[in-house]
Amino acid sequence: MCGIVGYVGASDATPIILDGLQRLEYRGYDSAGIAVIQNNHVQIRRDVGKLANLRQKVDASPVSGHIGIGHTRWATHGAPAERNAHPHISMSGEYVVVHNGIVENYLELRDELSAEGVKFKSDTDTEVIVHLIERFACNGANHDLTESTRKAAQYLRGAHAIVVLSKRVPDTIVVVRIGNAGGVTLGLGMGENFIASDIPAILEHTRHMIFLENRQMATVTAHSYQVQTLDGQPVTSVIHDIPWDPISAVKGEHKHFMQKEIFEQARSITDTIRSRVDFERHEVILPELNLSVEQAKALSRMVTIACGTSYYSGLVGKFFVEHMAKLHVEVDYGSEYRYRDPILDQNAAVLAITQSGETVDTLAAMEEARDKQATIWSIVNAVGSQAMRLSDGYISMNAGPEIGVASTKAFTASIVDQYLLALYLAQLRGTLSADQQKRYLQDIARLPDLVGRTLEYSHEVEHLAAQLYHYRDFLYLGRGINYPIALEGALKLKEISYIHAEGYPAGEMKHGPIALIDEAMPVLTIALQDELYDKMISQIEQAKARGGIVIALATEGDTFIKSKADHVIYVPETPYFLSPVVAVLPLQMLAYHIAVWRGADVDQPRNLAKSVTVE
Ligand code: AGP
Repeated sequence: MCGIVGYVGASDATPIILDGLQRLEYRGYDSAGIAVIQNNHVQIRRDVGKLANLRQKVDASPVSGHIGIGHTRWATHGAPAERNAHPHISMSGEYVVVHNGIVENYLELRDELSAEGVKFKSDTDTEVIVHLIERFACNGANHDLTESTRKAAQYLRGAHAIVVLSKRVPDTIVVVRIGNAGGVTLGLGMGENFIASDIPAILEHTRHMIFLENRQMATVTAHSYQVQTLDGQPVTSVIHDIPWDPISAVKGEHKHFMQKEIFEQARSITDTIRSRVDFERHEVILPELNLSVEQAKALSRMVTIACGTSYYSGLVGKFFVEHMAKLHVEVDYGSEYRYRDPILDQNAAVLAITQSGETVDTLAAMEEARDKQATIWSIVNAVGSQAMRLSDGYISMNAGPEIGVASTKAFTASIVDQYLLALYLAQLRGTLSADQQKRYLQDIARLPDLVGRTLEYSHEVEHLAAQLYHYRDFLYLGRGINYPIALEGALKLKEISYIHAEGYPAGEMKHGPIALIDEAMPVLTIALQDELYDKMISQIEQAKARGGIVIALATEGDTFIKSKADHVIYVPETPYFLSPVVAVLPLQMLAYHIAVWRGADVDQPRNLAKSVTVE
């Protein structure tokens, strides 16, 4: 979950690493640190808290050099404290390491190293790695950094991304990837090379990237890189040209990344649809799915696996696939799926939805599906991520880098991707008439405009947030295809404003949660003019009768609802299947503005990280 950056080349490593870490701060912000080799000495600066603290420290005591590594930490072992911040240094001061992952056998290794006389300076699991490297460097590997790192890596249990620097070889960085502790990317430049846990960290320097696979390592200098397996077999890696625009990874005139990403959605949805639909032939084009007509027809069901916001997206997608492709869909949490004995076979397709492509629980569920011979698809935003590489076929979200920890544009992109997937499956399985297919495609062509029009209500939502931000508990109610939107609206509010919020299926309110409603409980109801409208009105009546403060999300032109609810937020009339994309936007904006009113750290909410690479 932590962020990692490395640099070797002719420029000063310090600003490159600090700027890269700044772009990765969403991965962890408990502490940060940097190590640079300056005049043949390893110089380390570390501090707790945000990167700004580290920057101040570096300003007060500058370091510079042509090779260095840096880290932003999301604490697992050891409290957020300077002594636990990475990089960690060996006893001699010659070796330094930054790490993402958990050393599962660290207690054992710590005891072993302590018995050999090693004095530990931190409470982390990571520190054992650097001492192991030094042990092997001095003892057999003859200070060959690649060799001693390889030997150390073989002692570690768990999943890891490890980056190592040594003053003994001051022109070389060694990188290791084991398992799914997060990506490790090599960025290739001219006379300089970069290392990063995520693409946005180095996107302004290069778009040519190599993604290390499980159990691979790389030895990187300014002019060369060598990738090999942990067993020493040379690997020829594919160099990917990343299509992301570096500008999209900066905040621009927006106060927060989340705000920028909310407002990008008309464009990002256009990018998601672009080139996937032939509007003249009324066809969906998804060659990356690698699916034949025979395979599509043979499918007996689909299982969607995801976590958090991506899981809620999967709940929406179930409506599309079942209705359009007539395929049974089950949706499950990645973190739960493999802890039962799921029934899968070669006629089942497993769809993983993941913005980062790195969520360890989702990846583990995909591996479980692979073992059971199901076809694996993924909907992923991070290009080249592990989820994409584990899949038989994928659909890219094409949402561009999402930096705010609270997911917004990836959520809507993944819903649109599932809409296209459902239509594509319907096309191959012959489950929709030509007219129906045409109508659904015409609907999606209108979506970017509807999204743009919904975002124009931003000032009204901001005004409403000012009246609501002091409440402590919220209830979000939705029904049918918009029930997952109630869940997502509540999650957004919890994540960034720290207000307790529950999403609930509206019809279930009377079976329990209604007991919570009083004059201190805002109840947000998604009451669009669809076939469930009358039922939602009756939920509003029930909440009002208990003194609740009702906020209705309603369709433009619905004046009747004003007589029922305390506050109304409007969205344009939208085709039923696409209404979740439009309905979620005011809820994202509401959570955003409430968090701003409460002075919360919108882009980096406490305790969270953008990619959850630990179980
Ligand atoms: C979203 O706002 C959350 N931060 C979180 O629930 C996220 O959606 C979840 O961790 C899954 O991430 P993924 O899509 O990268 O797999």
